[in-house]
Amino acid sequence: MKLSDASALVEGALREIELPAGELNGLYEPISYGMNAGGKRLRPGLLLMTAEAFGGDKATEGAMPAAVGMEMFHNFTLLHDDVMDNSAMRRNRPTVQAKWDVNTAILSGDTMLTLATQKMMTVPDALLREVLDIFNAMAIKVYEGQRLDMDFETRNDVTTQDYLEMIGAKTGALLGASARIGALLGGADSKAAAQMERFGYLLGLAFQIQDDWLDVYGDSTTFGKPIGGDINNGKKSFLLLTALESGTPEATALKAAMEMAPGDTKIKTVTRIYDKLNLNEKVRKAVSHYSSEALTALKKSGLAEEAREPFRALIDKLTGRKR
Ligand code: IPE
Ligand code: IPE
Ligand code: MG
Ligand code: MG
Ligand code: MG
Repeated sequence: MKLSDASALVEGALREIELPAGELNGLYEPISYGMNAGGKRLRPGLLLMTAEAFGGDKATEGAMPAAVGMEMFHNFTLLHDDVMDNSAMRRNRPTVQAKWDVNTAILSGDTMLTLATQKMMTVPDALLREVLDIFNAMAIKVYEGQRLDMDFETRNDVTTQDYLEMIGAKTGALLGASARIGALLGGADSKAAAQMERFGYLLGLAFQIQDDWLDVYGDSTTFGKPIGGDINNGKKSFLLLTALESGTPEATALKAAMEMAPGDTKIKTVTRIYDKLNLNEKVRKAVSHYSSEALTALKKSGLAEEAREPFRALIDKLTGRKR
């Protein structure tokens, strides 16, 4: 199954979610809003694709509640991430914290996390403990990654290695858990499921490096998020660390530019320095490195050549993505 087919199935299932209306609109409306169409549905799509690869059509159907749970969890992290990153736009619309307020993003986000856990609890009893263990361990990883991401903003000793650990936690863990849970629900043994987790994790590294690149070089309408947020927040992104580690005169200029007050001038100044360092090429290299490592893990999963094809296509699609 292609990602586009899987995400269309997810979109359908998400539309069927019914949330209470009335007095508690203040809690539930931001949830429906936050879950709205416009997301790529990558994590649940990957979960369904993996379930199908190991278990066929029937497994795909059975895996849908877990897929929905993963997307809910992802959207919960976005509500809180937008508070932490002070972001006003996502998927081309105001974020929940901008449209309502921070308290709303916190509490509706909390509720999404619990709704996601409830969804995960509906997996077959035989797999329940294992799946919940994976889900909870993944969630803690994401929080650890998000904490590091914030700490890095004010640290000046962050290395590319530190960065990789941070994005492996904040982004890789969720993609990894989606693929692993999908594999288990499709009937894969634990060894194959672990390789699929590794596939998802490595895909997540490539995905986040591409996200960092789009945050500077993307088109804001296509990307759905304003350009330059990472620069203004002092994020230790792949671009910033690669530039700082270049040992060029530009690296010195960049250090000074990063001390500027947030705003359009800072974004322009930093982007010009990035342009000079030809970071595009370095980003392409890193993205293709982690993509090919992901393909190696995919192969080790034991899936037949034909069953691996949709995952190869997924990688191609994501490495060239503009949104
Ligand atoms: C955004 O994820 C958060 C990151 C890990 C970069 P996506 O780019 O998958 O967001 P949506 O769900 O498609 O909007
Ligand atoms: C997102 O990282 C990671 C999580 C939400 C866990 P970013 O902060 O880069 O995501 P965007 O760019 O806001 O989507
Ligand atoms: Mg963030
Ligand atoms: Mg963010
Ligand atoms: Mg980002």
